[in-house]
Amino acid sequence: MTLDDWLAARRVDRAQAGLTRQLHPQPARSPLIDLAGNDYLGLRTDPRVTAAAADAARIWGAGAGASRLVTGTLELHSQLEAELARFTGRESALLFSTGYAANLGVVTALTDRDTLIVSDAHVHASLVDACRLARATRIVVAGHNDVAEVTRVLSTRTQARAVVLVESVYSVLGDAAPLPELARICGAFDAVLVVDEAHALGVAGRGGRGLVEAAGLSHRRDVVSTLTLSKSLGSQGGAALGSGAVIEHLLNTARSFIYDTGLAPAATGAALESLRIVTAEPERPRRALDLAAAMSSSLTLPPAAGSVLSVPMRSPADALRSQAELADEGFLVGCFRPPSVPDGISRLRLTAPAGLSDEQAARVVRQLAAVPTGR
Ligand SMILES: Cc1ncc(COP(=O)(O)O)c(C=O)c1O
Repeated sequence: MTLDDWLAARRVDRAQAGLTRQLHPQPARSPLIDLAGNDYLGLRTDPRVTAAAADAARIWGAGAGASRLVTGTLELHSQLEAELARFTGRESALLFSTGYAANLGVVTALTDRDTLIVSDAHVHASLVDACRLARATRIVVAGHNDVAEVTRVLSTRTQARAVVLVESVYSVLGDAAPLPELARICGAFDAVLVVDEAHALGVAGRGGRGLVEAAGLSHRRDVVSTLTLSKSLGSQGGAALGSGAVIEHLLNTARSFIYDTGLAPAATGAALESLRIVTAEPERPRRALDLAAAMSSSLTLPPAAGSVLSVPMRSPADALRSQAELADEGFLVGCFRPPSVPDGISRLRLTAPAGLSDEQAARVVRQLAAVPTGR
């Protein structure tokens, strides 16, 4: 079969499954209000952040020029690592070029052939792919937030080591992991807890410090967090955080860190400025959280743990129709349908960014309240 024949057959398969994906290039200034993205605090276009990106590029260059262990570690990287660690209360931090790369690096570096991985059913694709890359002997996908199942699997394991993977604020469901219970169980069964704080940083917890800090787990040497700079911080890049020993291990063994060019100076400078703004302006995370709480309450949804609202729909067709109706009203929202949702439930996913006015939020709520949902 020629490559073109094979590609055409795959295209037909995708079309028949209703899974054809397309790019939708956005203009620099869209008339639509973006509730599908993750720029929770509006920092992606904040003039202070874009100026910091431009300044960093002028001072440090357009790229880092090499991988971090060669000559690609800039003082700017070290500064951001120190400030991220300080902000989240962790001992140490290590930047990666994306949150995706951070998850790949952490899971592959912290597991070996005698490790059991227990992953929540709703973790992000980067953690799923990390499991595929890891050489762990056994991978168990536990029910979402099912602490009893995690306990059962850990307590009956035959492997010497175990790693549990969760998100602190789930990216599609918008709910929180029961971190205190999970950390207690991990402590009891000598397992490492890896917490992806991609959707918590800058929004959830004390002044946006995330839910690991809020749960009093920042000092725990068996808790490792990952995060992305591409959501609330409006930039690009990722990081792993934990004890100095974990970070030292990662920089020696995480292949997605070692064999990857250092984070671009513009992205680093932008994230640093955003972090300083979040620290100095705690009203931003507070507004995003309050708005999400008010919107989820008006829509009789479970309380949002961060800035993500997840609206279950009766059918994939209803979800698509509501997404189109909201676009007619000027709001872009995300739409998740089977099989890309692990529990088969179609959902609209929308965020409550800090910059959304009360009037705009009320319009979104009115529109959504009028459609039949699977609530
Ligand atoms: C939960 C979660 N983890 C990791 C990532 C990956 O982060 P990045 O976009 O920086 O690669 C994302 C989003 O893309 C995410 O939602």
